[in-house]
Amino acid sequence: MARDPMDRARELAERGRYTTAPNPLVGVVVARDGKVIGEGWHARAGGRHAEVMALEACGGAARGATLYATLEPCNHHGRTPPCTDAIVSSGVSSVVIGHLDPDPRMRGRSVEILRDAGVEVTVVEDAVFARQNEQFFHLMSTGRPFVHLKLAMTLDGRIAASGGDSKWVTGEAARTRAHELRAEAGAVLIGARTARTDDPLLTARGLYEASAVTRVVLDPRLTLSAGSRLALSAREAPVAVFAREEALGGREGELRERGVEVFPAPRDGEGLDLGFVLDELGRRGLRGVLVEGGGETAGRFVAGGLVDKLTLFYAPKMLGSEGVPAVGALKAAHVSDASGFCVESVERLEEDVSLTLYPREAPCPEEEYVHRSG
Ligand SMILES: NC(=O)c1ccc[n+]([C@@H]2O[C@H](COP(=O)([O-])OP(=O)(O)OC[C@H]3O[C@@H](n4cnc5c(N)ncnc54)[C@H](OP(=O)(O)O)[C@@H]3O)[C@@H](O)[C@H]2O)c1
Repeated sequence: MARDPMDRARELAERGRYTTAPNPLVGVVVARDGKVIGEGWHARAGGRHAEVMALEACGGAARGATLYATLEPCNHHGRTPPCTDAIVSSGVSSVVIGHLDPDPRMRGRSVEILRDAGVEVTVVEDAVFARQNEQFFHLMSTGRPFVHLKLAMTLDGRIAASGGDSKWVTGEAARTRAHELRAEAGAVLIGARTARTDDPLLTARGLYEASAVTRVVLDPRLTLSAGSRLALSAREAPVAVFAREEALGGREGELRERGVEVFPAPRDGEGLDLGFVLDELGRRGLRGVLVEGGGETAGRFVAGGLVDKLTLFYAPKMLGSEGVPAVGALKAAHVSDASGFCVESVERLEEDVSLTLYPREAPCPEEEYVHRSG
């Protein structure tokens, strides 16, 4: 039996998972009489849109065919011309759209434009397309990046040994997956102690031709060294540091000289206001942020109800109670106060195990969209 073209379009969209940030993943198939005549996907921001790629692949033979797109095509002049123009001039007679544009200002506009031009349009509007673009949909509906918390820990929930050493808790396969998650989100965030202890680079090293990952440090006392690997690489990939206003007025000069952006952030009790931080990252158009710890930072995001997705890598080891806890204080006096999650998937990664979860209050993922063309 022939593959459903929309299933194929979703599969094509996946090719951009680690390279499109901050743009959405989009896949497109052009088909006639059940036969695929063109395929396209969006690979990177500023690059060709999936619709244009698929129509070009048809080599002028798209007239009268049906175009299947996982997401509503664009209708505006951005870095590339509007896809609605390309669709209308290709002569396709019908378009099937997986999900309308999540941007409330754009939602449904392209459907109108295509219908006005005489193209028949069907909108499927299935949650599976929103799930494929969960980061982009979250940014469009909340103005904040999707927060994906990732922690690599021992069986007893430790992310580092007592002295702070964390190299390496998990094996090669889990670390490679963590780099994929960085590329997918387009931004990585850590607490100041991790920056001081590990002196990390936080890039998605050499794995993808993605746009550079933005590195974010929550550093209330502005302790990041101008000689740190983050500061020294700030001209290659952005580094943003959030510090308390009182901490500014001295050291930020040498950091800014290196290209580090330093933001004064308001306090929230003892800590920095994480809502402010996320609003600021959303204003920069970041669709996702991978929070990589340490434990105190993870705890603040969980306690604030700010985690949208959780990936835990468990190494078959124990470090005991002297080790650094994976999650800091949550002030749960009773089991009923616990932060709850539901499991989306469990995966073996060589010697380690990976768990992917969503907060309990979010709808747990349901498999799976099945679209049958008539
Ligand atoms: N295995 C892993 O996946 C993994 C990942 C990351 C880190 N680690 C390890 O974890 C250890 C560090 O973890 P940690 O829990 O001790 O510290 P951490 O979370 O890295 O950093 C905590 C510090 O970050 C700052 N901070 C973070 N969020 C804040 C907020 N909302 N408001 C105010 N300040 C905020 C504060 O800075 P000040 O201290 O300047 O006040 C706080 O003390 C290191 O040993 C590192 O190697 C392991």
